[in-house]
Amino acid sequence: MKILITGSKGQLGSEFVDRLSEDNEVYGFGHKELDVTDKIYVIDIISKIIPDVIIHSAAFTNVDGCESDIKTAFNVNIIGTGNVAIESKKNKSTMVYINTDYVFDGKKNSPYIESDIPNPISVYGISKYGGELVVKHFLDKFYIVRTSWLYGKRGKNFVNTILRLTKEKNEIKVVNDQVGSPTYVPDLAKAISALISTKYYGTYHITNSGECSWYEFAKKILKYAGIKNVKVTPISTEELNKPAHRPKYSVLKNLNLEKKKIYKMRNWELALRDYFGK
Ligand SMILES: NC(=O)c1ccc[n+]([C@@H]2O[C@H](COP(=O)([O-])OP(=O)(O)OC[C@H]3O[C@@H](n4cnc5c(N)ncnc54)[C@H](OP(=O)(O)O)[C@@H]3O)[C@@H](O)[C@H]2O)c1
Repeated sequence: MKILITGSKGQLGSEFVDRLSEDNEVYGFGHKELDVTDKIYVIDIISKIIPDVIIHSAAFTNVDGCESDIKTAFNVNIIGTGNVAIESKKNKSTMVYINTDYVFDGKKNSPYIESDIPNPISVYGISKYGGELVVKHFLDKFYIVRTSWLYGKRGKNFVNTILRLTKEKNEIKVVNDQVGSPTYVPDLAKAISALISTKYYGTYHITNSGECSWYEFAKKILKYAGIKNVKVTPISTEELNKPAHRPKYSVLKNLNLEKKKIYKMRNWELALRDYFGK
């Protein structure tokens, strides 16, 4: 397949380029090469390549930054996604839109399934849900993939941040009242690679299975990294006092993926051990 990837220098986009290049003709475009808010470039590049699949992983992902820069959040995550969706339609490409657990308000006490109604509580969540609506509005052939708490070897993520902090401090404070599912980027890329070969279009939740709080996640990171001389202290979301509201509980159930027997995601702790080569 001819596959075009937006945001290809990002944490997830770069993993797609690596994984999919073996069996496909992959065209990766980073922010500098293709700004998705620039309609002219989006039209030009997509119409020249005419990809079978477009994986749209470009986004303004700074959750707190979105609160103070609503214009960029909406421009990139809604308008930019709309530009890509319209060109997908024109060129008969299948679009994969990467979305987030932050489209939910976190008030449910059991895992969210694909048919649960989103109700975002942050600018980032609103903008990403807006992108999802735009994709559904313009396209018939799409995959919307909602995932959560991504980490991998590249890019900025919670695992890298914790490992960096252990070099700078002997105590790290981490929130214990937000629960979700950490997801290892190579696992997600494998699942999406399986998904796009099915033609079972629609909305999917794809995360590693199981759940934990950020505090529990941090404790396991230190355990598998073999770091013993740093203390992890649980704190509340209020104490952390970040600009953006985050859902208290945003575990996603991979219902559609499993019902259709497309791919089985392993438990988050197994994936984390793998990350550390354990
Ligand atoms: N990280 C998570 O925990 C998480 C969880 C759930 C869902 N997601 C979703 O997963 C996708 C990938 O996230 P990620 O973790 O890989 O984030 P990331 O590392 O920040 O990658 C996003 C990429 O998009 C690029 N970008 C920003 N504005 C752009 C624009 N106007 N045009 C083209 N590219 C632009 C960024 O480039 P610059 O850095 O140069 O601006 C960056 O390389 C996103 O859709 C995100 O919403 C992420």
